[in-house]
Amino acid sequence: MANKALIHLLLLLLITGGHSDIIFKYENNCDYSVWLSASPSVDDADPESGPGTLEIFTMPDQWTGSIWVRTKCSVNDSNYFSCETGDCGSGTQDCQSPPPTYPVTLLNFDVKQPEVSYEVSLNHGHNVPVRIQPDGGSLVGGTGPCPVVDCIGDISNVCPSPLVAPNKDGLYVGCYSACDALKDPKYCCTGSFSGPAACQPNDYSKTFKQICNLAHTYPADNDPPTYKCSGAMSYNITFCPS
Ligand SMILES: *[C@@H]1O[C@H](CO)[C@@H](O)[C@H](O)[C@H]1NC(C)=O
Ligand SMILES: *[C@@H]1O[C@H](CO)[C@@H](O)[C@H](O)[C@H]1NC(C)=O
Repeated sequence: MANKALIHLLLLLLITGGHSDIIFKYENNCDYSVWLSASPSVDDADPESGPGTLEIFTMPDQWTGSIWVRTKCSVNDSNYFSCETGDCGSGTQDCQSPPPTYPVTLLNFDVKQPEVSYEVSLNHGHNVPVRIQPDGGSLVGGTGPCPVVDCIGDISNVCPSPLVAPNKDGLYVGCYSACDALKDPKYCCTGSFSGPAACQPNDYSKTFKQICNLAHTYPADNDPPTYKCSGAMSYNITFCPS
């Protein structure tokens, strides 16, 4: 009997030991602070990530959502917290009920342990350069390692003037997507433009694509496809990768 109990315990240890957590490592390579944000929220007591810091998170086993960063955050004299980009409107560091104010570079994930789908999306514009680099693992539905996706180039240099997002002093802080800035069904892929056949790249999305060819730049953009990775040790997410 004692042996049987021991075997059960060992089996239990083996089973739980075989379950590896999904780890996200955030590295802030920017020379400014960024404030991590997620919708739906992922527990983060102190979202501020200073220049040169590395933060390690265990993700829920099942999580579908977006991660982005806020920039140039501060509190005013009534202790109200707000940010020049990616603001959550909560008035506190804790986002509570996002989605963010656009423009933001969105990192979209679908976590279903041990698989993770991931993309960099400019469908709501761009505020900070980013890279998602799976560490190990294998590509689901393909062969070889899990590909890197990123948007590293300097969008501020190419942001078309109707899409420029200024702060209250008129300085560039980000670049809107054509849909968010111009609200045209053609860019948003709504109404008669919905569906992959009718939703086509446009001059604005093509400008993004030239700089960031691994990011999705308009609603039906599937080039590259949204990758799915299985069994990676971690997902390295770098802001302002060099
Ligand atoms: C701080 O910002 C909030 C939200 O915009 C505003 O309601 C409040 O009046 C501001 N306080 C000061 C002192 O400017
Ligand atoms: C991921 O980040 C860790 C910690 O910074 C680093 O040691 C590792 O080499 C990185 N892996 C990849 C594939 O970038």
